[in-house]
Amino acid sequence: MEELRSILKMRNVPNVLKDQNSTVIKDDKTWSSRIREIVEIFGSQVYGYSPPAPSKVSSKLVKEDKDAFAGKAVHSVIDLSFDTPRGEFSFPVNLVMPKAVSKTPLFLHIAFSPNVPDKYFPVEEIIDGGFAMASFYYEDITKDKDEFESGLAGMYSGANRKPDEWGKISMWAWSAQRVMDFIQTLEEVDKARIAVVGHSRLGKTALWCAVQDERFVMGISNESGCSGAAISRGKKGERIRDIVTTFPYWFCENYREYVDREDKMPFDQHFLISAIAPRYVYVSSAIGDEWADPESEFLSCVAASDVYELFGAKGLVTEDRLPEVGTKLHEGHIGYHLRGGTHYLSRYDWQGFMEFMRRKLY
Ligand code: GCU
Repeated sequence: MEELRSILKMRNVPNVLKDQNSTVIKDDKTWSSRIREIVEIFGSQVYGYSPPAPSKVSSKLVKEDKDAFAGKAVHSVIDLSFDTPRGEFSFPVNLVMPKAVSKTPLFLHIAFSPNVPDKYFPVEEIIDGGFAMASFYYEDITKDKDEFESGLAGMYSGANRKPDEWGKISMWAWSAQRVMDFIQTLEEVDKARIAVVGHSRLGKTALWCAVQDERFVMGISNESGCSGAAISRGKKGERIRDIVTTFPYWFCENYREYVDREDKMPFDQHFLISAIAPRYVYVSSAIGDEWADPESEFLSCVAASDVYELFGAKGLVTEDRLPEVGTKLHEGHIGYHLRGGTHYLSRYDWQGFMEFMRRKLY
């Protein structure tokens, strides 16, 4: 990996195996304490700390179509509710269970739209692939706006949040964990094969969610770019300055410290991917998505791979060069593809996720 390593070195990318006392982690047993450090870093410096899980999540079936998608699946809408410091909060979840499969693997899709299916969510293809799906619409949690009164945001500290308290990415990730609480009650789902998926801002969310919740066997980031899968040091396209100017509310206030100071960060985004290890990660990029920077997303997977070696596994298995369009890397515990085209969550991307899930977990 001389070529790829030299790019990481030129970019000054920190070694994820070196902990806060500069001790290099050498075995799988000490890795879990390093994960706790990494979760602390992203909690206090990037996305903001979330409150503890509610003691109970209740569910209520509000709609059911027993013959959905040409009769191949049952599509239900379920309201989840739980207590918060300011009373009960609830949000709807879509569940699509294929009839032909038992003990079904499941994708939890953190979605840009309440529609099922949707342009980013080819549900029929996914059930035909043998997968169940749960999804929720992110703005049913809280608005994607710079305010802290709507929805879940208003149920906790609201506008009085502290500099290390949750921004909206943390709120969406935490809500995906509440959906996971509910999925645990579903007998027909195989609990060992549940992946969380998101695109772009919701790809950042999916990674952060998978990091914090080991019940997800895989975290899938589609074109999550800046403050998601992509290495920040030397990144092209969007930088921390851009993202905290346009979307300050996605993060905790402390994240502003790193505007134009990427080089001083005691971490970089491959730490986020690494903290999912030894579970699975999938990162997908599009060549035309220069704002996200495919190269920096790929390099993050390379830099995170060292961690898997502690477990006698492989992270990203790749040739020693940057990928070309059409590259699909499905050998190791980190899956990756680079497709043609622009910023979008496409059928091609979903096919990649399904192939990887099948290859790793069947
Ligand atoms: C903007 C933002 C990105 C984000 C994207 C999206 O382009 O700058 O960071 O990933 O929106 O969510 O589509």
